[in-house]
Amino acid sequence: LMKMGTMATINQEISFEIASLICNEFGYNLIKSDTSEIEELEIEALMEIEEDDEKDLLPRPPVVTVMGHVDHGKTSLLDAIRDTDVTSGEAGGITQHIGASEVNVNGQKIVLLDTPGHEAFTSMRARGAQVTDIAILVVAADDGIMPQTVEAINHAKAAGVPIIIAINKIDKPGANPERVKQELSDQGLLVEDWGGDVISVELSAKKRINIEGLLEMVLLVAEVEELKANPEKRAVGTVIEAELDKGRGPVATVLVQGGTLRVGDPIVAGVASGKVRAMINYKGRRVKQAGPSTAVEILGLSEVPSGGDQFVQVPNDKAARLIAEKRQELRREEMLKASSKISLDDLFEQL
Ligand code: GTP
Ligand code: MG
Repeated sequence: LMKMGTMATINQEISFEIASLICNEFGYNLIKSDTSEIEELEIEALMEIEEDDEKDLLPRPPVVTVMGHVDHGKTSLLDAIRDTDVTSGEAGGITQHIGASEVNVNGQKIVLLDTPGHEAFTSMRARGAQVTDIAILVVAADDGIMPQTVEAINHAKAAGVPIIIAINKIDKPGANPERVKQELSDQGLLVEDWGGDVISVELSAKKRINIEGLLEMVLLVAEVEELKANPEKRAVGTVIEAELDKGRGPVATVLVQGGTLRVGDPIVAGVASGKVRAMINYKGRRVKQAGPSTAVEILGLSEVPSGGDQFVQVPNDKAARLIAEKRQELRREEMLKASSKISLDDLFEQL
């Protein structure tokens, strides 16, 4: 290189022309390969999620999120719902292992996401991730609509998901369900017994009153929604939450939304990649596969993805790595753009 007048360090990139000149010098022919371009195209194709053919779609269980103001009884309601699960066969409901659970009502499955509080909901929406099919809005009958109730209504409306109102704490002396309905109508939610089409259920999470009634309504709304997915395509879904476990490495709870995820599948989750080493269901049991509308904890990722990240199954480890790299690159660019925008704005502010 030096003889040719190119001063290059050992880790410096040189042009194809120069490299081929050197090769000629040593009796080799350097051929320009276009494999990198093919890979680029393949990666882009793999990052796109193919549209489903109507004929491949099968009914899938609804994914439900519980939202509402602080202390209105979200956790209590989830506990009550889990207690109602007669098929689990475990006294006092099930111990929860992941940020999601499943219940069976009259032989039909309902998936409950426990994590998406308002913040998670917001961050997922910001990434275009839609995980919930139905929102249960908990309103305490003795407290009525509060700021976070309004926030939750706005989240659900923006996401375009149906809302079922759970008027909770009807066992309390100060309970006033009618006032809640009045306040809901002020928010543009007219419940059925007020002549509207919003379903509301009066219940008590604590006293376990009318929990079945609520679940029946969830199934009713789900039926109307005609929720479907193709279980046969490559698995896609969303990361619900993830953390670094001391013993197990990166652990992510994902919701499979299409296709079927299996142990051994190479996947990309956000900027993380890897092979699914193990899957654990909401009961803490190991499973070999997870179809549409199933939440599972997965092990085997290279790093910890973020809540709201999309995960997708890919053909092999190499593709997984390349796509993760590509995503990292895209994310860096986005961040750079965002930070330069901020600094420009700051600059103008200062001027
Ligand atoms: P955050 O997670 O802090 O936002 O609260 P939350 O919405 O999960 O409410 P949580 O389930 O923790 O309930 C708050 C309080 O209300 C607890 O003391 C519950 O025991 C009580 N509570 C919940 N549901 C009922 C109910 O149906 N009746 C009565 N009387 N109390 C209830
Ligand atoms: Mg809670």
